[in-house]
Amino acid sequence: MADRLIALTPKPLHHLFYSDNGSTAVEVGLKMAFQFWRNQKAKGRNRFLALQGAYHGDTLGTMSIGERGLFNDLFGELLFQAKLLPLPYSYWEKKDLEAEEDRLLAQTAQHLAQEGENYAALIVEPLIQGAAGMKLYSARYLKGLVELVRSQGILVIFDEVMTGFGRTGEWFAADKAGVAPDILCVSKGITGGTMPLAATLCDDLVYEAFLGDEPSLTLYHGHSYTANPLGCAAGLASLSIMEKESEANFRHLEGWHTEELRSLKNNPRIEHLRTLGCMAAMEIRPQKKARYTTRKELMHAFAEKGILLRPLGSSLYVLPPYCITRDELALVYQVIQEVLNA
Ligand SMILES: Cc1ncc(COP(=O)(O)O)c(C=O)c1O
Repeated sequence: MADRLIALTPKPLHHLFYSDNGSTAVEVGLKMAFQFWRNQKAKGRNRFLALQGAYHGDTLGTMSIGERGLFNDLFGELLFQAKLLPLPYSYWEKKDLEAEEDRLLAQTAQHLAQEGENYAALIVEPLIQGAAGMKLYSARYLKGLVELVRSQGILVIFDEVMTGFGRTGEWFAADKAGVAPDILCVSKGITGGTMPLAATLCDDLVYEAFLGDEPSLTLYHGHSYTANPLGCAAGLASLSIMEKESEANFRHLEGWHTEELRSLKNNPRIEHLRTLGCMAAMEIRPQKKARYTTRKELMHAFAEKGILLRPLGSSLYVLPPYCITRDELALVYQVIQEVLNA
């Protein structure tokens, strides 16, 4: 399983640490990055950079590097502070997006010139923030950010728990963006959603900081279900199916979404239509005389017509299984039209 994963993931991630869920894959990534610096007796380097709106999981470490809100407000006093960097979303149809990106990168560069040596790592959900509401941002901004933090020696962690295994139309968002991290966290699609399994991969640079005879160099982290054999068996089976059957599908779903979104484009009830790989999303505009006003009512209305859709705040998103046919996807969009028009 490790060999297959390493062969699939963006080069040059040659090493892998197993766990069993997405939050833990990220938690391990944070500990790896923190200990990377401790093992080299570095001063400082004990803080993390993340992005505004981020969601990385529900453990104390992952809540700490995420945007504060309903899921973690209660635990605020237990969490450590991370620096959340601004994120210009690319789908707001701003004319001067690149200028805005450059302005924000310059702001971050200024901050890092003062504080860069305090940071162990930057962690991001590459290209799209899922839980925040399917918020897309550009590969250009991601690359700019990675380049900037690397110039300060800061490690780069990609949380691909949501984007991994084909969701962006490539095996990983890192492939789509054309930039590889030092540490990569994966779960969800690793077994096709059938069994709990997760992995945190890293490059030689990170791995080598843990080598030596001193026991204190060890990454002391483990769970009862680490590298669960059934999870790995399901992972192997799922990867075989994906390579044989799903890869073609996840590569052409963006084209199908684009065609379908075209027919929704002039619907006044929605805005900010967007797609990335297998994912498509839109924002529902509030309507005075709408039949369905709450998320629950909308979910119910979709379900009554045979489609499971789960709005996130005002965002409505379509994230089908890779085996969906062209006609089935057309039906999903037809139901969206019908429900929105009501
Ligand atoms: C980007 C991202 N990171 C981490 C997680 C946490 O994964 P899990 O729910 O398996 O703990 C999620 C879950 O939705 C996620 O979308």
